[in-house]
Amino acid sequence: MASPAEAFGGGVAVITGAGSGIGEGLARTAAELGMRVALADIAADRIERVAADIRAAGGEAITIPTDVADPAALDRLAATVHGELGDVRLLMNNAGIEILGLSWELPAEVWERAIRINVLGVIHGVRAFVPRMLSAGEPAYIGNLSSIGGLSMMAVQTPYILSKHAVLSFSECLRMEMDLVEAPISVSAVLPGPIATRIFEDAATARDPSKIEFHRKAMQAMTHGPGSLTGKQAAEIILAGIAAKDFFVSTHPEITTQMAKQRAEHLSTLSTPTLGEEARRMLLG
Ligand SMILES: NC(=O)c1ccc[n+]([C@@H]2O[C@H](COP(=O)([O-])OP(=O)(O)OC[C@H]3O[C@@H](n4cnc5c(N)ncnc54)[C@H](O)[C@@H]3O)[C@@H](O)[C@H]2O)c1
Repeated sequence: MASPAEAFGGGVAVITGAGSGIGEGLARTAAELGMRVALADIAADRIERVAADIRAAGGEAITIPTDVADPAALDRLAATVHGELGDVRLLMNNAGIEILGLSWELPAEVWERAIRINVLGVIHGVRAFVPRMLSAGEPAYIGNLSSIGGLSMMAVQTPYILSKHAVLSFSECLRMEMDLVEAPISVSAVLPGPIATRIFEDAATARDPSKIEFHRKAMQAMTHGPGSLTGKQAAEIILAGIAAKDFFVSTHPEITTQMAKQRAEHLSTLSTPTLGEEARRMLLG
């Protein structure tokens, strides 16, 4: 089994959402492993800051402001990275947003943007990069950011939860497609547990955000509370799992296993979704 340095050293990494949190950690860790890194994010100032740090430490980094909700922007990203850095060894489809609000209170544009970023952003990342990765014929790795939410149910985060189920499902099928064409490309679904990032601070909401303030604070406390990891700590675990070609890559294996068992039990007994007392407290106080 290859170590992260053996798998990735000397290669090119592309990371979407590289300006904050897990993506920032992935960019810094990939650079530490000796990768040349392409940082993509909708927030240009954030990736400039991370790239400046990487260069100051002797690494090589380029920045490409990119909105992953736009398929053409991902095509441009792939062409630019290939032109400037060459063949890609590691593609991290990491950019994602949280969305808080009752399904029927979220404006149509919030729903559509959530799906375009969290689901189609991952799909078009693969569509834009894989043909060149296949032509290169070299071992390569794709990590798609799902979540432990991709194994669970949660009210008031519905667009997020369904997007993470979709990313997991897409990644499962993609891994089989790589098998089918005997591609040397390993696909991993990354299922982080609580990571202390700005994701809940930046969450999209319904028109009246005061309604979800309690829930936002509870989620922020959970992602920054006991047992949570920093983006950098998460990135180190994630890149070790991807280097090992694990399909399920988890930052919190115990929580992931527990969630997977609950999901399997729920499906195998065809249970009706119910809101437990703990979930109700998280939502309403
Ligand atoms: N933080 C957690 O607890 C947690 C848990 C499970 C999964 N995840 C997943 O990890 C990934 C990273 O999340 P994070 O917690 O580091 O969040 P974060 O908010 O700290 O960072 C996300 C980055 O993505 C960028 N971004 C947002 N929309 C974009 C767009 N349209 N195009 C390009 N970039 C865009 C943001 O500018 C930001 O820099 C997400 O897919 C998230 O769902 C996070």
